[in-house]
Amino acid sequence: MLDLIKQSADFIKSELPETPKMAITLGSGLGEFKKRLADIKAIPYENIIGFKRTSVAGHTGELIFGKIGSTPVICLSGRYHAYEGHDQDQIVFPARVMKFLGVKYLLLTNAAGGINTDYNPGDLVVIKDHINMTGKNPLVGENLEELGPRFPDMSNAYNKDFREIINSAASECEIKIKSGVYVGVLGPTYETPAEIRMFKTIGADLVGMSTVPEAIAAHHCGLIVGGISCVTNMAAGIKDEVLAHDDVKEQAKKVTETFSTLVEKIVSKI
Ligand code: HPA
Repeated sequence: MLDLIKQSADFIKSELPETPKMAITLGSGLGEFKKRLADIKAIPYENIIGFKRTSVAGHTGELIFGKIGSTPVICLSGRYHAYEGHDQDQIVFPARVMKFLGVKYLLLTNAAGGINTDYNPGDLVVIKDHINMTGKNPLVGENLEELGPRFPDMSNAYNKDFREIINSAASECEIKIKSGVYVGVLGPTYETPAEIRMFKTIGADLVGMSTVPEAIAAHHCGLIVGGISCVTNMAAGIKDEVLAHDDVKEQAKKVTETFSTLVEKIVSKI
């Protein structure tokens, strides 16, 4: 596995003009950020060793290198989800490759359901912590010592300093941003109202089907991890609504400009 990660990083390195400082995983409906990049170089996932095609219709996934001002960044446009049948190694492969590329910061973004009733669809939320309810963990199996320790501490997984950078970027852009705990689930079903009541009781503010495995593996290998959720809907049972993926994507698209302005500012501050 480690060899494949290194080969993949070596290949990407050979294609890029310089080392990206930050990688940004773009969540559902948040892909427009890539339009803010200058000096773009895009590589389809299918051309990169160890990256499989992502199965979302019409998107094979691509890695996009570019610059925000003078800062080189890389966008991971398209991610692997466990509900698609990808194993944990595949889901966290891009994050680990980022480490070997020399990237320092990984910003994970996603669409999420709002559990906290102070949230509204369209809100942006800094993830301060997570609860792993996926039933899986990407670090199960032999520990890759070269990446990190067998039993990693998770108390600062969503790095506090990085969260402060995100918050101050938001306030400089006059973008309201909230803070919350993300509970990660396997999916692909949306949750039942009873599950959402349980998640609320155990301290979750947001729910989604991504981010948790990548955050674990990235933190394990020493990347500085941050997370931003876009609340696309209120979670099951909170309002009398039926949840649909098209509505989730539609809502994320509505905030994609604000989101992009925020991420641009974050990049300029790292
Ligand atoms: N539940 C799980 N994942 C999600 C949701 C949700 O309500 N909204 C967007 N992704």
